[in-house]
Amino acid sequence: MSEPLIISVGGGKGGVGKSTVSSNLGAALSRQGYSVGYIDADLGGANLHTCLGMRRPAITLQHFLTGERPTLESVSVKTPVPNSWLISGAGEFLELANPNFAQKQKILNGIKTLTADYIIVDLGAGSSTIVSDFFAAFPNNITVTDSLPTSLENAYAFLKSGIFRGLIRAFPGREDMQKLLTAYTNARGAAAAPTLESMFAQLQTKCPKEVEAMKEWLDARRLFLVLNMVRGQDEVRIGEGFTGIVQKYLSVSLTYIGYMLYTPEIRASLRKLGPAVMQSDTQVAECFDAIARNLSAVLKR
Ligand SMILES: Nc1ncnc2c1ncn2[C@@H]1O[C@H](COP(=O)(O)OP(=O)(O)OP(=O)(O)O)[C@@H](O)[C@H]1O
Ligand SMILES: [Mg+2]
Repeated sequence: MSEPLIISVGGGKGGVGKSTVSSNLGAALSRQGYSVGYIDADLGGANLHTCLGMRRPAITLQHFLTGERPTLESVSVKTPVPNSWLISGAGEFLELANPNFAQKQKILNGIKTLTADYIIVDLGAGSSTIVSDFFAAFPNNITVTDSLPTSLENAYAFLKSGIFRGLIRAFPGREDMQKLLTAYTNARGAAAAPTLESMFAQLQTKCPKEVEAMKEWLDARRLFLVLNMVRGQDEVRIGEGFTGIVQKYLSVSLTYIGYMLYTPEIRASLRKLGPAVMQSDTQVAECFDAIARNLSAVLKR
């Protein structure tokens, strides 16, 4: 088996459907013959197990972090989605919601040792350090948003924080670069570089090698957009507008791999036995099958 493709799923705004997309995309990939690992990295509000049609697992990430279980694999549990497992972040201790640097690193290193064709990492809402760290740790991400301006604004903030976090992490031990990039992250008004491209232009003479390294880091990203809760054909185009803004201001290409309609089936599926994709052959399954196919095509699987 080749190395797993690890994909984080985030989006900034709460309730836009990150866990719905994670669970159903995994189910669609499973239908297409792939093995799937799910990681619930929403440590403060883990509920991916519910979206997968499971009770809260008794064994979770917490047992790995406390050392009660030796490996991440040993805290994985089977899910109702064929050929898949879940590692749940549903801990009983509140401090798990905000792990320290060493704990985060232990999880991130552990993830790279797991086996599956695809590993889907469901992130919590917001753009906190833990969310940005998980975004930055893996080259592949799906940003989920609905078409409301507030959601788009949060999705943009999520991507921007994650990208700056990644750029900062690309210079371990380089306090000068870390300080400089942190200053750009926090800059407002006239002190701010309006686009990443303009930041690179400002830094080009002072540190050309570092600018090159940052551009390479950005080029290695495979970033995807899923527009959720779409209620009409004219909303579909909002996704295209958003990818244009991200390209212009953040110098990365965000590939619009599909949308999901607003449908009561999704809500209803939560009371049944698993992701909506497994329960019907209707529009939900069609939308997620298309998203899964587009994703595999771009990632060449
Ligand atoms: N396309 C859709 N149509 C109808 N309802 C949806 C759709 N997508 C998600 N929902 C519903 O919206 C609610 C929030 O979805 P979900 O839990 O997936 O969001 P989330 O982004 O993971 O939230 P959180 O930020 O709390 O982690 C759920 O009740 C879900 O069933
Ligand atoms: Mg969620």
